[in-house]
Amino acid sequence: MLAVCVNEFGGPEVLSLEEVPEPVAGRDQALIEVESAGVNYGDILVRRGEYFGRRALPVIPGWEVVGTAMSADPGGAFSAGDRVVALLDGNGYAERVAAPARDVVRVPDHASDQVALAMVIQGATAWRLLENFAPGQSVLVSGAGSGVTHLMIQLARIRGASEVAVVSSGEEKSDRALELGADLVVQPRGDGNLKEQVAEELDGRRFDLAIDMVGGETLQAMLRALRPGGRAVIYGVAGGEPAKVNTGALLKNGLTVSGLWLGHSEGWSLREIMTGLFELVEAGQLTPTLGPVFPLARADDAHRAVEARTGVGKVVLDCRNP
Ligand SMILES: NC(=O)c1ccc[n+]([C@@H]2O[C@H](COP(=O)([O-])OP(=O)(O)OC[C@H]3O[C@@H](n4cnc5c(N)ncnc54)[C@H](OP(=O)(O)O)[C@@H]3O)[C@@H](O)[C@H]2O)c1
Repeated sequence: MLAVCVNEFGGPEVLSLEEVPEPVAGRDQALIEVESAGVNYGDILVRRGEYFGRRALPVIPGWEVVGTAMSADPGGAFSAGDRVVALLDGNGYAERVAAPARDVVRVPDHASDQVALAMVIQGATAWRLLENFAPGQSVLVSGAGSGVTHLMIQLARIRGASEVAVVSSGEEKSDRALELGADLVVQPRGDGNLKEQVAEELDGRRFDLAIDMVGGETLQAMLRALRPGGRAVIYGVAGGEPAKVNTGALLKNGLTVSGLWLGHSEGWSLREIMTGLFELVEAGQLTPTLGPVFPLARADDAHRAVEARTGVGKVVLDCRNP
């Protein structure tokens, strides 16, 4: 079968379509005939050799696919021939994959391939980041162009947020965030002191929750905007620089800072979360931002589109027409 391989770390040009051996389903795994594979920001990090120290080569990127189950789930959650999405531990940019059966979920007829893929990593992450969010609370998030942010804005509104604010890096992205339900988009000028500019634009507002995936000064600015007793959750360091956190300020203001990574599978169920997400999609309450579809052979262009940071939406590879 065909798959997109990384044989050396580097730019998008290292992604090469190659003939590779068919996957073999191990214990508690299911084979899937892949129709489309989702492209995530984390795939870029895998390609560059920057993903949590994963340096083994060759590697086939891709953590989510939609397609047809080739065998039934022993637990009865899906049958052979069902249209399913799956969360994988890699190898998704391929014509067929072996997926952990517990993370294979049937796709309702109303959801297109692209919508279904937007619900896997981006949807489950957004859902989990807001797990302990209570009605009436306020939230400040970073990354106005991020697919996770677009879903989080809508989920926070559905859960009765009193205020949703976003730290953005571009005007076009700000418009989309406002359209999806953000009350306020803070747009630092890109020169001078980012922390002061964010504070100025927030105009004294204080938040119950800050959710960050940029790191560095952005996270520092967001921590300053928390009310006493507030919480921050970190789920990415897209800016490349982890923030230096003033632990004295955490102590003085009673703040909690935690991390969230979907790779920790304990304590949550993808099936339960995706059921909730698909219900909201069907009800017209949740709309992912959808981006371009590329043939599997053009995974390099798909990566370029994600890296361009134009806020393009969910980018997908068509694996039926490699
Ligand atoms: N912890 C987890 O389990 C988990 C799960 C999913 C995603 N993530 C992380 O969450 C982030 C967003 O994922 P996504 O799927 O929503 O990606 P996406 O739609 O491709 O958006 C990428 C985001 O990263 C930001 N970004 C990229 N390069 C940056 C830089 N140099 N400095 C500052 N911001 C930068 C962009 O900010 P602008 O909008 O301002 O351009 C954009 O919002 C990624 O860092 C990803 O690795 C983590």
